[in-house]
Amino acid sequence: MLAVEKLNKAFGALQVARDISFHIEKGARHAIIGPNGAGKTTLFDLLTGAIKADSGRILFSGENITRAGMDVRARAGMARSFQQNNLFADMTVSENLLTALVVARGYGCKMWNRFVGSDKLATDVIKSAAKIGLADALSEPASGLSYGMQRQLEVGLAMASDPKLLLLDEPTAGMSPEETKLMLALVASLPVSLTVVIIEHDMDVVFQMAQQVTVLDDGAVLFEGTPDAVRHSDVVRARYLKRAK
Ligand SMILES: Nc1ncnc2c1ncn2[C@@H]1O[C@H](COP(=O)(O)OP(=O)(O)OP(=O)(O)O)[C@@H](O)[C@H]1O
Ligand SMILES: [Mg+2]
Repeated sequence: MLAVEKLNKAFGALQVARDISFHIEKGARHAIIGPNGAGKTTLFDLLTGAIKADSGRILFSGENITRAGMDVRARAGMARSFQQNNLFADMTVSENLLTALVVARGYGCKMWNRFVGSDKLATDVIKSAAKIGLADALSEPASGLSYGMQRQLEVGLAMASDPKLLLLDEPTAGMSPEETKLMLALVASLPVSLTVVIIEHDMDVVFQMAQQVTVLDDGAVLFEGTPDAVRHSDVVRARYLKRAK
């Protein structure tokens, strides 16, 4: 699904990606961990095309997308949620999902009025809300939702494009144990064919949801393996676990 080969990126003198290489199989649940400033979000920016790599290659579904724009990558099936909430705060849950569906389907402005009232779209909004546990909150403004629900809605917006690859940047950050449990259940309920990459600080969450883990440190891959291998890795223990939040 995704292959990254010797990816490099510098912001001025700061090297934030150093020869990063890894690959992720279709349908995998893959975690990226690493201390603050390790370059995890920057890696998502490189994958989605928000920033361009200085060198290296990114292959998505076998296509070389290294130089492709964000729109091309999104249309090819990449979606992400952000470390900070990225919702339309004044709009309701229903309107947020509707907007995401209309945009994802490329209906454009002229088509907007024709589709907004359509039964199909209304049904899809309800289905999307049900998938993220927000079926009973359709007419709530996003700003009125609990923090955990807001983050669930954000996953719903990312899922609106029916992506092949979903990138989640710290989806459980700042959550209560109860909210974290709900987010874990949401991730577990995603289609098995969907490939999911999660940046996550909470090691318990990593161990519960990921089959494979890439550990980043100072822009480079420090270790890669199963959650168990990460748990028992001396190099990870020494460099990361002690420093983790
Ligand atoms: N646009 C930018 N310009 C300059 N430096 C940047 C930019 N974006 C990120 N950085 C720097 O790159 C490094 C990696 O940042 P990044 O946000 O990728 O880390 P992270 O692993 O996601 O950290 P956190 O766990 O805190 O979210 C940091 O030192 C950061 O300050
Ligand atoms: Mg980050």
